[in-house]
Amino acid sequence: MDNSLKLIGPFRQLLTLDHLPLKGALTDDQLEIIEQAGMVIQKEKILTVGKFTTLKSDYSEAEINELKEDFVALPSWVDCHTHICFGGSRAKDFAMRNAGKTYLEIAEAGGGIWDTVTQTRKLSLEELAQRTIINANRHLQEGVTTIEVKSGYGLNPEEEIKMLEAIKKADSKTKADLIPTCLAAHMKPRDFEGNASEYLELISNTLLPLLKRKNLTNRVDAFIEKSAFSPQEINAYFLHAKELGFDLTVHADQFSIGGTQVAVEFEAKSADHLEASGDREIELIAKSKTIAVALPGASIGLGVAFTAARKILDKGGSLAIATDWNPGSAPMGDLVVQASILATNEKLSTAEVLAGITYRAAATLNLSDRGVLKGGMLADFNLFPTESYQEILYQQGKLKPSQIWKRGEKI
Ligand code: NIG
Ligand code: FE
Repeated sequence: MDNSLKLIGPFRQLLTLDHLPLKGALTDDQLEIIEQAGMVIQKEKILTVGKFTTLKSDYSEAEINELKEDFVALPSWVDCHTHICFGGSRAKDFAMRNAGKTYLEIAEAGGGIWDTVTQTRKLSLEELAQRTIINANRHLQEGVTTIEVKSGYGLNPEEEIKMLEAIKKADSKTKADLIPTCLAAHMKPRDFEGNASEYLELISNTLLPLLKRKNLTNRVDAFIEKSAFSPQEINAYFLHAKELGFDLTVHADQFSIGGTQVAVEFEAKSADHLEASGDREIELIAKSKTIAVALPGASIGLGVAFTAARKILDKGGSLAIATDWNPGSAPMGDLVVQASILATNEKLSTAEVLAGITYRAAATLNLSDRGVLKGGMLADFNLFPTESYQEILYQQGKLKPSQIWKRGEKI
């Protein structure tokens, strides 16, 4: 008997998310749904999916994990934009915003990103890793098995490295896969004596080569915004980052436009936020290779409009959905709650939402081994205790997966 094969099923429904395009609108009738399905797993990967009874006779040597209740199986979720490595809390900012205070007033009262930088710098690498593990494991329990995690609360070479080392350490201690991104270009640090370009030059020349050498990340992000960096300032930084071989991503058009243009010009993997994008920016991104990432958690956290997800898809763009989980603008961090709220506001099909938190999100991270359930892919999948996949968004995040499988193992 070959014990390395496992057959699991029957699933009432198995949604493969296979045979769907990377770009453009999707309707639910495009979803491939296998009823009474099974999955054969070999080590950390899927060998094949199909009808349970057929697989049972075709793979008679497999160890069978027979399910006695109704489950819907889906690829597990990918959250392609988070800031879950941080110190402190910004509950005060949240209360001040709701009391009508402006961004500037909050920053002057000691809040904003700089407050989190101060709190993060106070923590040791070990403490920071510990906090990251706690957040990652919370995500994991909700079915998010791949999590992008940004630095950006260190804001000098040494502290940024500490953050990325902490993320690496956390990755080795959680079952979720953590994908690190350097966001040293989050804002010009207040304790840096020099202008924004000089700060970017410093991290470009000292930090980026070091990240390559230490193998800490292959992704670079920048916040292009009036309160952070201008498109011109980021231009030189991105040129160098691209030369060094980093994949790029941008915090774009959150409050004012400018970032999308840079993202498209540099063929960034993704342009994230886009709440302030107009028709021109939407047209630009829809025609490009860059994937738009909607962050409904930031709209909910700040009480601002949602990204024009419907328009982006209808214009032919690719759309992923992520939490932006961070202590400032998006403290909730529940991917399915947020994605289903975006769906009702933007009139997204279930297929569009599921694509946005599986294979389209994986594509922003350059990961082609997950987000679809078919032979050769990682056996990363969620089982929901229900008869129909439609229940998941309908229950707006209240229905949690009762089994989470990561790399062929039940967690
Ligand atoms: O994606 N926009 C910039 N950065 C984060 C917020 C980070 C923070 O406020 O701490 C965001 O919303
Ligand atoms: Fe963000």
